[in-house]
Amino acid sequence: MRISVIGCGYLGAVHASAMAELGHDVVGIDVDAAKIAQLAIGKPPFFEPGLPEVLTSAMNNGRLRFSTDIADAAGSQVHFIAVGTPQKPGGYSADLRYVDASIESLLPHLSDGDLVVGKSTVPVGTAARLAELIEAGSGASLAWNPEFLREGFAVQDTISPDRLVYGVAPGSRGEHATELLNEIYATALAADTPLVITDYATAELVKVAANAFLATKISFINAMAEIAEVTGADVTQLADAIGYDGRIGRRFLGAGVGFGGGCLPKDIRAFTARAEELGRGESVAFLKEIDKINLRRRQRVVDLTVGALGASVYNAKVAVLGLSFKPHSDDVRDSPALDVAVQLRGLGADVVATDPQAIDNSRARHPQLQYSQSLEDTLQGADAVVLVTEWPEFRHLDPVWAGSLVKTKTVIDGRNALDPAAWRAAGWTYHGLGRP
Ligand code: UDX
Repeated sequence: MRISVIGCGYLGAVHASAMAELGHDVVGIDVDAAKIAQLAIGKPPFFEPGLPEVLTSAMNNGRLRFSTDIADAAGSQVHFIAVGTPQKPGGYSADLRYVDASIESLLPHLSDGDLVVGKSTVPVGTAARLAELIEAGSGASLAWNPEFLREGFAVQDTISPDRLVYGVAPGSRGEHATELLNEIYATALAADTPLVITDYATAELVKVAANAFLATKISFINAMAEIAEVTGADVTQLADAIGYDGRIGRRFLGAGVGFGGGCLPKDIRAFTARAEELGRGESVAFLKEIDKINLRRRQRVVDLTVGALGASVYNAKVAVLGLSFKPHSDDVRDSPALDVAVQLRGLGADVVATDPQAIDNSRARHPQLQYSQSLEDTLQGADAVVLVTEWPEFRHLDPVWAGSLVKTKTVIDGRNALDPAAWRAAGWTYHGLGRP
């Protein structure tokens, strides 16, 4: 099938490449000429494992090309909208300007029977509004098909999703949309991927509800960590024990410095704002608490570090391990790790931060921090070590080797990623989150 993907950021670039990998004929379109130029030579402008390989192979097979001209969408039967919906500056709601602009620019190039498919995360009610615009301005129709990919596993999550959701119009328009989407996702459907066919509002809500649930799970265990900290309990054992209950499950019960990234934080805030607009603010008021618990955990890591350094935080060397919001990503949007590094620097500490992938993005936002590519240089002479992103190389750090480099053997494990017994045996003072 001929497909256009409008918006070649994180979501769009992965989606375009994955669709081409599945055998479709894809054009990726973006207004950002620099981004398109990079993609066109097979180099994604961000780090995502497996993406360069899929991108290059699809381009070599002639199934994937990129353009800055929206007119190149003409001739495709299905047009995915994969533009960003960031948090509005100074507010909590989602900024829909890129979604609106992409639909407006696409409208003149749509033909009868075309299907526009929204993938961006939007406030509930957006699809119904866009469907009216599309139907009034062309013979095309709209479906909403939310994306659940995780950074670091984005290609795999797109090619083999754990479920598919189609929000479609009632009647024949919806049947036509379902047929086209079934053709696009034939490989996943053949592998028995669960499929939910529903209305626009449900499809939009599935996405925000899923992210709200995940955020709630993380803040729940982080709230338990706060209680563990004043009672001497161990939150990691608590998580294991409650996680064995199949109704609860152990995943997303990792207590630590909290969640970040381009989705969870902004999505729960936008959901709260939308619910308030709908007169149902109280239904999701708990999400404000989820956000507050999450932000308190960053403060906790800063406080533990300052507590360990005592009055000498000013000019003390703090080695910060990790900058991205999670491992296997170079994304520093709303990153707890970067936030902790910036706060410690603000208190006068001499922060040196390292990360396998996220130094360039961090430097662009916070040039006042010192960065090092070398773990050894980062640790050398440190008065405290703060682990804030659990990259495998930090998780498996040898406490004896690290101890031979630092000045003071104090470690603050902001991800509960280290083995306290091994670190203490090597002479370290170990501080975890929610662990004695
Ligand atoms: C998330 C959703 O998982 C995905 O389905 C959606 O499409 C986009 O948002 P992503 O932002 O890539 O994906 O990251 P995810 O793996 O969900 O992690 C989010 C944050 O939660 C990270 O900062 C991570 O470190 C943190 N986290 C995760 C925890 O603090 N504890 C956990 O147990 C799990």
